[in-house]
Amino acid sequence: MSKERVNFAQCDELVQKFEEVIKKPITKKSSVYYTGVDLGTACVVLAVLDENYKPVAGAYRYADVVRDGMVVDYIGAVNIVRELKKEIEEKLNTELLYAAAAIPPGTDALDSGAIKNVVQAAGFELTCLLDEPTAANAVLNIENGAVVDIGGGTTGISILKDGKVVHVVDEPTGGTHFSLVLSGAYKISFKEADEFKRDNKNHNEILPLLRPVVEKVASIINSNINGYDVKEISLVGGTCCLKGIEEIIEKKTGVYTHKPKNPMFVTPLGIALSCTQDIIE
Ligand SMILES: Nc1ncnc2c1ncn2[C@@H]1O[C@H](COP(=O)(O)OP(=O)(O)OP(=O)(O)O)[C@@H](O)[C@H]1O
Ligand SMILES: [Mg+2]
Repeated sequence: MSKERVNFAQCDELVQKFEEVIKKPITKKSSVYYTGVDLGTACVVLAVLDENYKPVAGAYRYADVVRDGMVVDYIGAVNIVRELKKEIEEKLNTELLYAAAAIPPGTDALDSGAIKNVVQAAGFELTCLLDEPTAANAVLNIENGAVVDIGGGTTGISILKDGKVVHVVDEPTGGTHFSLVLSGAYKISFKEADEFKRDNKNHNEILPLLRPVVEKVASIINSNINGYDVKEISLVGGTCCLKGIEEIIEKKTGVYTHKPKNPMFVTPLGIALSCTQDIIE
C-alpha cells in the first residue's frame, strides 16, 4: 500500500469528539451555535458546533423521507428535523438558530428549494446550502484528488484540483442497494438486512456477497474520474464503514483509496463547519 497522502488525523479527532457529544453533550454555554443538517436518504443527522466550531451535541435518526437526494416526504422530513432540533435544544438548554444544509450535487435546480424549506420550516435560519462532497471536504481539506461520499441512496463524487472543486456528480447507487442484495441473498426484510449490514461483526461474511455492487460503485467512480488527474480517493458516507470496501475500490480503479476511521459523520460535520450567521432569505 502506498504512503498515506492525506492525513485523516484531524478528521478522526473531530468525528470522535462528535460521537462523544452525541452520547454526552457539552452544556457549557456558547455565544452562538452552528448546526449542520444532513437530510440523507437513509439517515437524518444534526451536528451542533459551538462558537469555536467545536462539536457540542448531535443526534441522528434513520428515516425514509428522502430518496436519491430528493425530499419525498416533506412533512415527515420537517417533523424529524424539528424533533432532533428540540431534543438537542433541551439537552443544551438553548435555542438553535443558525443552520447549514447540503444537497447532492446536480440536484440543486430541482430540490434545493425543498431542502431549504424543510430546514426553515423546522425553525432554523438557513445560512448556507452547499453540495455534499464539498461539505465533506470542509473536514478533510483535500487539495487534490477525489472525495467520494457513498451514502444510502447515492454516491457523490467531487474532484478537487488545488483545493477547488472541478467536477461534482451524484449517481443513484448506495448502501440501500447493498441492503437489497443482502435482503435477497438471506431472504430477510430490507430493514433486517440493513441492520445486519450495519453490524461490523458481519462484515467479513457479507463482503463476498456485496463485492459485485461495490465493484459497480467502483466503476461509477472510474468513469467519473476518467480524464482528471486523480491520484487519491478519499471515501466518506455511512456505506464506507463496510470493512474492506476501500480495497475493492482501489483494485478496481487502480487509484490509491482510503477512508477515515468513521466515514459516517464526515459530511454532517462538514455541513456544520460551513454554517455561519449570515441568513439566506
Ligand atoms: N457500520 C456500517 N456498516 C455498513 N454500512 C453502514 C454502517 N453504518 C451505516 N451504514 C450504511 O450507510 C448508509 C447511510 O449512510 P449515510 O448516513 O452517509 O447516508 P445518507 O446521507 O442518509 O444517504 P445519501 O447521502 O445517499 O442521501 C446506509 O445504507 C447504512 O446502512
Ligand atoms: Mg449523505
